[in-house]
Amino acid sequence: MAGGAGTRLHPITLSQSKQLLPVYDKPMIYYPLATLMAAGIREYLIITTPRDQTAFRDLLGSGEKWGVSFEYAIQPEPNGIAQALIIAEPFLDGAPSALILGDNIFYGANLSDLLQSASARAAGATVFGYYVHDPERYGVVQFGPDGKVVDLLEKPPKPPSNYAVTGVYFYDERAPEITRTIKPSPRGELEITDLNRAYLRDGSLRVERLGRGTAWLDTGTHNSLLDAGVFVRIIEERQGLKVACVEEVAWRMGFIDAHQLKQLAAPLQKSGYGEYLLRIMRDDQQP
Ligand code: G1P
Repeated sequence: MAGGAGTRLHPITLSQSKQLLPVYDKPMIYYPLATLMAAGIREYLIITTPRDQTAFRDLLGSGEKWGVSFEYAIQPEPNGIAQALIIAEPFLDGAPSALILGDNIFYGANLSDLLQSASARAAGATVFGYYVHDPERYGVVQFGPDGKVVDLLEKPPKPPSNYAVTGVYFYDERAPEITRTIKPSPRGELEITDLNRAYLRDGSLRVERLGRGTAWLDTGTHNSLLDAGVFVRIIEERQGLKVACVEEVAWRMGFIDAHQLKQLAAPLQKSGYGEYLLRIMRDDQQP
């Protein structure tokens, strides 16, 4: 598990039915899960709409087969991302947390190191800024003249920078309590940006910039969803290695052993996915 001595991390993932749909060759939800698993995180609370919970349970189960643990909770109404921290409070039980949005896809070298460092930080919150051409669609970072972060704005019509705040967040144990002090925004939601601003005001928000060699893909529009699938296909076909293959990540992280990976591969042989899992075990030269 990632984290400093004694740190227990309980990530929470917010999911909707579209996140069961595939991005190229696997369900969308596998991408954010693989991102956090590669950061060493093993305990998850999957928060879904009431209607979607059964489908997510059917897909992911208890997590045991991947050497992780999945618990489930419901967000009855779409009242904003920050509400996840309140819903997760009993699950977190005073522990720090990571929150990832079920439709965010991250890809790039050094990403797991960056996430592992964020999860190891004992106090405060860490968010990630990523340079995009259309920041008005996201939470946006405002920098002062000295380059310091002075504010975060949710979907500002006139963005003060090109740095969007991505959908993976690390919080210390105070997050549920701080979230309870936040008022709903004009769109009636508990905004994750308002939680992050509370940490900023407190002097305990760290904004890490993801470099241009990292891909942060969004699946919020028809075009961006299709683009994400094409991106994954290009990388996978070029390398013969899969992006966000949760079974592979579980094995490489030591959450499961070779025998368990073989058992996962057996029923998937015909699809090529199982063949892949067997192949990666035989080849010890892969990056
Ligand atoms: C949400 C957050 C926004 C963040 C984005 C990342 O936006 O509110 O700050 O930049 O996720 O995907 P929404 O999903 O509400 O469009």
